[in-house]
Amino acid sequence: MKNSVMLVAISLLASSAHSLADTVTANEQQSENSVQEKVKEARLHAKALGGALKSRLQQAIQSGGLEAGVNECQIAAAPIALALSQNGWEVGRTALKVRNPNNAADRWEREQLAWFSQLLTKAKQDNLTPKRPIETYQYDSESGEFRYMMAIEQGQVCMACHGANLAPSVKHAILEHYPNDQATGFELGDLRGAFTITYTP
Ligand code: HEC
Repeated sequence: MKNSVMLVAISLLASSAHSLADTVTANEQQSENSVQEKVKEARLHAKALGGALKSRLQQAIQSGGLEAGVNECQIAAAPIALALSQNGWEVGRTALKVRNPNNAADRWEREQLAWFSQLLTKAKQDNLTPKRPIETYQYDSESGEFRYMMAIEQGQVCMACHGANLAPSVKHAILEHYPNDQATGFELGDLRGAFTITYTP
């Protein structure tokens, strides 16, 4: 009799421990899945912002040259980002050296940018192609806040406005709108900045 009670007690203990472990794993799995969903959504947001900016910039440059491109960027960049920031998502761009001070990086962003930059420098040195997109994210399980960044590299079309040798008229147009511009002197393949995306539930 004594023995069978003991057995029941042990099996109860075992089964409750078992179900507890199952619950934890299920929760962890669920939160891992939802984080992966967020990563996918964040990538789409970064691409949407990049695509919208690029087409606006190209149109302006085609019709009015690089100076018009600068003006267009100044007028359109913030409203485009705002229009794409919906349903808890906030999308934007940042960099270690910014043109628009409103795009300045916070501490977490600076750390990620430094890491992206190191990664690109190292890949260049070792003649390796890094896996793209170059991205990073952070999820706070308590608040549910999710942050994501995707590196933006300096391409050929960016040289005219972010390179080392700007045409005087372009430089003039930039300084007119951005007297404290820091975003020149980049070389092809350098880290220019990043898309920065936050989801707040
Ligand atoms: C016609 C000039 C022009 C060209 C070409 C251009 N940009 Fe910019 N860029 C600007 C201006 C102007 C801003 C500031 C926009 C604002 O007010 O937010 C800017 C801002 C940025 C920012 C946001 C961070 C910051 O410095 O404020 C990033 C990132 C960026 N550009 C990347 C690029 C990349 C990558 C390319 C090439 C694919 C590119 N730009 C081409 C003019 C240009």
